[in-house]
Amino acid sequence: MLNLLIALVLAYLIGSISFAVVVSKAMRLDDPRTYGSGNPGATNVLRSGNKTAAILTLLGDAVKGWFAVWLVSTFGARYGLGDEAIALSAIAVFLGHLYPVFFKFKGGKGVATAAGVLFALSWVLGLATLATWLIIAFFFRYSSLAALAAAVFAPFYEFFMYGPGPISVAVIVMSILLIWRHSANIAKLMAGKESRIGQKKRE
Ligand code: G3P
Repeated sequence: MLNLLIALVLAYLIGSISFAVVVSKAMRLDDPRTYGSGNPGATNVLRSGNKTAAILTLLGDAVKGWFAVWLVSTFGARYGLGDEAIALSAIAVFLGHLYPVFFKFKGGKGVATAAGVLFALSWVLGLATLATWLIIAFFFRYSSLAALAAAVFAPFYEFFMYGPGPISVAVIVMSILLIWRHSANIAKLMAGKESRIGQKKRE
């Protein structure tokens, strides 16, 4: 039980590192919480016009999700941690990104972190979900719409690939949270006011 608690706290703390804020600060760019959608995420950092910063944010947020789950999957068994702990650590790192202790609990929408988590759970699952994101983003040019579609499909991919289990529950929970965090984007999409990928700062 103590090992599980340590794993979850560690995953949450890793998730709490907001790379959008850290990278922007390191590169002397404006704080992404002050422009565009105000979301500390790669899509919004891209609105600063700095592609390198956006890519670094995307990679940082994805790698932290991957790393937290990889840690528990790789070393957890030694400490009596199985699939339930892997599933809970996936949710913990994701929640860290959404509600970061280091940033007054005001985090991002979880897309890159969820992608990293999915790749750590199963690279096939990660690739299938990423392909979904890319196809929708390519045709519609909305990052949020692509994320929403990927979030809807990911639980089905996981279920049909591996069957029901604790990991399925984690993927469903992440998808629900991710969709919920995109409420403002859904409203803008429906009103035809959502900005397309690469559109510069406004709003
Ligand atoms: O990664 C979040 C993306 O799906 C939407 O971001 O800044 O357009 O709200 P944003």
